[in-house]
Amino acid sequence: MDGRDLVRSVKAVGSVGAAQGLRTVRAAWRRQRADARGLPPRGAERARVPGPVREVEYGPGGGVVRFERSELRILVAVNGAVFWGWDGADPEPSYALAGRCPEPDPRAVLEPDKQGGWRVVAERVTVAVSRHGAVEVRTPGGVTLRRDLPPRWWEPVGGGPARWMQRSEVAADARFFGLGGRASGPRLRDGAYRLWNTDPGTAFAPGDDPLYITMPVQVVVADAGTHLVFHDSSRDGTVTLREGEEGAGSGHDRPGTSVLRMDGGPLRCWVVVGTPARVALAWASLTGAAALPPAWALGHHHARWGFGSEREVRRIVAGYQERGLPLDAVHLDIDHYDGHRVFTVDRERFPKLPQLAEELRRDGIRLVSIVDPAVPAVAGDAVHDSGAAEDAFVRDSAGRVVRGVVWPGDAVFPDFTHARVREWWGGLYEERIRQGFAGFWHDMNEPTSFAAFGETTLPRSARHALEGRGGDHREAHNVYALCMARAGYEGLRRLVPEERPFVFSRSGWAGMQRYGGTWSGDVATGWPGLQASLALVLGLGLCGVPYSGPDVGGFDGSPSPELYLRWFQLGAYLPLFRTHASLRAGRREPWEFGAEVLRHARVALVERRRLLPYFVTLAHLARRTGAPYVRPLWWSAPEDRALRDCEDAFLLGDGLLVAPVLVPGADRRAVQLPRGLWYDTATGRAYEGPAQVLVDAPLSRIPVFARAGAVLPVCGDGGLELEVWAPGRGRTGGGLVVPDAGDGWDDPEIERYVARWEGRRVVVEREGGNSAGEPPYPVRVRGLAGR
Ligand code: GLC
Repeated sequence: MDGRDLVRSVKAVGSVGAAQGLRTVRAAWRRQRADARGLPPRGAERARVPGPVREVEYGPGGGVVRFERSELRILVAVNGAVFWGWDGADPEPSYALAGRCPEPDPRAVLEPDKQGGWRVVAERVTVAVSRHGAVEVRTPGGVTLRRDLPPRWWEPVGGGPARWMQRSEVAADARFFGLGGRASGPRLRDGAYRLWNTDPGTAFAPGDDPLYITMPVQVVVADAGTHLVFHDSSRDGTVTLREGEEGAGSGHDRPGTSVLRMDGGPLRCWVVVGTPARVALAWASLTGAAALPPAWALGHHHARWGFGSEREVRRIVAGYQERGLPLDAVHLDIDHYDGHRVFTVDRERFPKLPQLAEELRRDGIRLVSIVDPAVPAVAGDAVHDSGAAEDAFVRDSAGRVVRGVVWPGDAVFPDFTHARVREWWGGLYEERIRQGFAGFWHDMNEPTSFAAFGETTLPRSARHALEGRGGDHREAHNVYALCMARAGYEGLRRLVPEERPFVFSRSGWAGMQRYGGTWSGDVATGWPGLQASLALVLGLGLCGVPYSGPDVGGFDGSPSPELYLRWFQLGAYLPLFRTHASLRAGRREPWEFGAEVLRHARVALVERRRLLPYFVTLAHLARRTGAPYVRPLWWSAPEDRALRDCEDAFLLGDGLLVAPVLVPGADRRAVQLPRGLWYDTATGRAYEGPAQVLVDAPLSRIPVFARAGAVLPVCGDGGLELEVWAPGRGRTGGGLVVPDAGDGWDDPEIERYVARWEGRRVVVEREGGNSAGEPPYPVRVRGLAGR
């Protein structure tokens, strides 16, 4: 670091305070020195490609194809997913898989293909391997969905781990989605997307990349079909995407391309093919069912960095109650800690936290606590001392505990890739439970250490247990938060076995849904930030993480009343509905923006409460089927190209289509409707899709459409009711209901309802066995007048 760097660094950390600034600069120095020592330069490298095929070996579900300079193992699993790994890579060990690799499908066999190649034919997919190691994924009808060119490795001349590159082609009409939470999504346009979980340092907007959750998970939608591909390596990498172009009669099609460059790790991938719903199901069966949030977590949350005292918390809660605004959870940020130290309480300003929690709980409001992984590097701090006794903290290659700088100042970091450390950490939540907290908000877990320049995380040479295999931060970084979530989730299961844990985490990786959800991080206050917050929820949902939502109002600054309201109205239809903002930002309570905003925000809150049974149902369905609550419009019609390009509306489950207002000054908006009959729920008017329609979007509401025939569980005056939107004439409809079974582990049955015309009436019946017949809930039919 030269003088200029130093000046830049000090400027960059100015906001953290001068002393913190100096510490930060020192931490950055330490990190650089550690890497210089711990990571020898790679030296000269040699490139390698597989070369021509030599022989094949049959195995269960596929086999091994041997090339001159590599070998490829292919396996079709019983859930229909296909695995292949180069250079002997196996599906295990893997942080993404929920358990063991699924059993091979005995029906899938390796057989000769054209021109000296080989192929594996499975029920839903054929994988063909060319003589030089190109791998093609085809539909059962023989249409190519993806063609991976032979991979290329670069390895040190003297031997050692290789970097690699995988170039793939997809159809000219294909669209890319996923890669974790991307601000510029949901459709991932041409550009490079990095795979390295990162705190951007300031509030982010579209164009900022990478962010907190990156995943080598791509969902590709084309006329010929939908597929998901997951490259199971947690290392740093980049995916460069380029959408294709169709010749449209005047030339050849140019395929879409994806080039994945990884700085190491196994070259292995999983591919699943089918409808979006089938892809989601197979992905969830590989990486695990999403944790089911308790019903209160599907209500409204109010957070704030800087409540500052119990009195202020009470004042805010009273503000909600006096105005008749539903509130289900209040989140306490780091300012309730004693000196920003995790698992402590500032007893002066929060003297009776358990009592506050108890009072709130009586009013149906839960307390949620932030939990940061950084532990103060201070002897005498209880968490530090117990962690040190457990040898819990990440060390460098010379065996010294690695230090960084986070909110409490100098800090050390638990190595969550060690089962023993996870168990120790999980036990620490006991203190939080005693304080009365019901939910946990994991933050700063990329992990972030403030840095004056360069990267804001641990040295790459830092050592990690990696479940006993041993390795460094290059491999552990992207799974650090996933392992922290596991530690918290499993600890809570031990501490409060009768309740489902509620954990959500800023950072994570493939499989994180097993332990909970996420939020969008520090999204910039502004219309672009509002757009990005929807992009993140959609992208994460496609990657298997169904529960998320933004900081309503944006994290920094002060939204205009209009922006705040539009954000609030969007948030009311997203799984995590939470207002939150920075210490330095303006207020975020619904009554701080004038009487008109308050009136409309109340409508959004009341509607969210009314839809709670629908959200509970969607949560259960996400857990059982992998389908996210919030789905892109193409979910049920991936062949509809106009829907693939539509990024400003979404499906909420099967029944609703939400068209938020994402631009200023709008009082009408265009909505792209998928095939079928749709009702504008505000006016009852019916529209026939596919079509683009122009509808009113006054400040008082955002357009929400119901699918004709939808049966939606809602909260009526006396409890659960079925809201039924009349099916088209001569058509039927239906819907699923999973009743709320409390915060425990009961797994209620899915109730199936059908709606059909009987003469001039719409009737609803429950399907299935003994319970078939009239629904046990009141039924309200809507939409009869609109057609
Ligand atoms: C990070 C989090 C934010 C939190 C703040 C203070 O910026 O993303 O949500 O309020 O830290 O803890």
